Amino acid sequence: MASFLTLDDLEPAGRRVLLRVDLNVPIEDGKVVDAQRIERIVPTIEALIEADARVVLLSHFGRPKGERDDALSLKPLVPALETALGGRKVAFAEDCIGSVAAFVINGLTDGSVALLENLRFHAGEEANDPEFARQLAELGDLYVNDAFSAAHRSHASVDALAHLLPAAAGRLMCAELDHLQAALEAPQRPLVAVVGGAKVSTKLDLLGNLVRKVDCLIVGGGMANTFLEAQGHAIGRSLSESEMTETAREILAAAAEAGCEVLLPEDAVVADELAPGVSTRIVSIDAVPAEAMILDCGPATTAKLCARLEEMATLVWNGPLGCFEVPPFDAATVAAARKAAELTEAGKLMSVAGGGDTLAALARAGVSERFSYVSTAGGAFLEWLEGKTLPGVAALESAA
Ligand code: 3PG
Ligand code: MG
Repeated sequence: MASFLTLDDLEPAGRRVLLRVDLNVPIEDGKVVDAQRIERIVPTIEALIEADARVVLLSHFGRPKGERDDALSLKPLVPALETALGGRKVAFAEDCIGSVAAFVINGLTDGSVALLENLRFHAGEEANDPEFARQLAELGDLYVNDAFSAAHRSHASVDALAHLLPAAAGRLMCAELDHLQAALEAPQRPLVAVVGGAKVSTKLDLLGNLVRKVDCLIVGGGMANTFLEAQGHAIGRSLSESEMTETAREILAAAAEAGCEVLLPEDAVVADELAPGVSTRIVSIDAVPAEAMILDCGPATTAKLCARLEEMATLVWNGPLGCFEVPPFDAATVAAARKAAELTEAGKLMSVAGGGDTLAALARAGVSERFSYVSTAGGAFLEWLEGKTLPGVAALESAA
């Protein structure tokens, strides 16, 4: 288990708390289009407000090149933060270090909140530069990290800063780690992982780690095609990484050795092109036409994997099972997600999902609220599943 201080170990009354959050949320036309990451940090901010802290929010946004880029300012986030905090005012500082930031922070009263400008406007952030971290540390008395979704970055506000001030994990950081640990480190068994998405190459380490930990691995999405090709199936014009077939065979061998059952598609929904409403066929995996593409798992596969979910106690889900953005190729993902949600609600399954496209896929299935836990993290969730140490978590542990 991770061991670090939490909010409960701090005495933040009247103190300036540098709260690292992840406000890297999708914005269109200056408006936040998905506020989940904002809503999920509210319990930590409110706990600090209740405790009469002076809350200073630090975050990155997008990938500026270590210099100011007005298109990537955090200022448009202020109204969304104020809404999430029930209308409470959030002050904004046009820089995250120096006199501009200090001026705004000095104006805070106990129980009030400020947001500092994008950390990545300074090259020192991504370089984990000790001098930049020192400039951040000057602005606060305590440090709290609530940005699990950025914990895979060894950046100054995530790593170096944690060593310069008394450091603790926020409520969201604790919740993310608790659920991931419950799902993967000490799970109720049997434990199943559903892994989908386009490419095997981006999830190699993840698959290699999972086959040694889970009882059953369900592989879908484009990456399943590479496994099918590795097994000698003709897959027509389907997306596949032919150069990865040897690796796919190694993963299957490792699974066999570890006693992990691997479920691959037995039938598929195919079409000649990926477009909405295109004419589709259902074929056995041995009968994929040369001109066709596999775009979703077929109904027999979907039924089989839903039945397998019924036998499981714990589920970890990452990635869609088909081209879910383009109906009707969302059918397998939606059916399996709904099955998992039903089993969760019936108290038969502990379900944890996260990473990249997964949240969008679960939202399409209308089950985002019905899993036991949905992580706010993309890359950090994947690195956790790969078994890697996350620098942001390690920094809190060594600071404790
Ligand atoms: C994310 O959105 O995955 C995190 O905020 C990390 O962002 P990054 O991939 O730009 O480091
Ligand atoms: Mg990312």
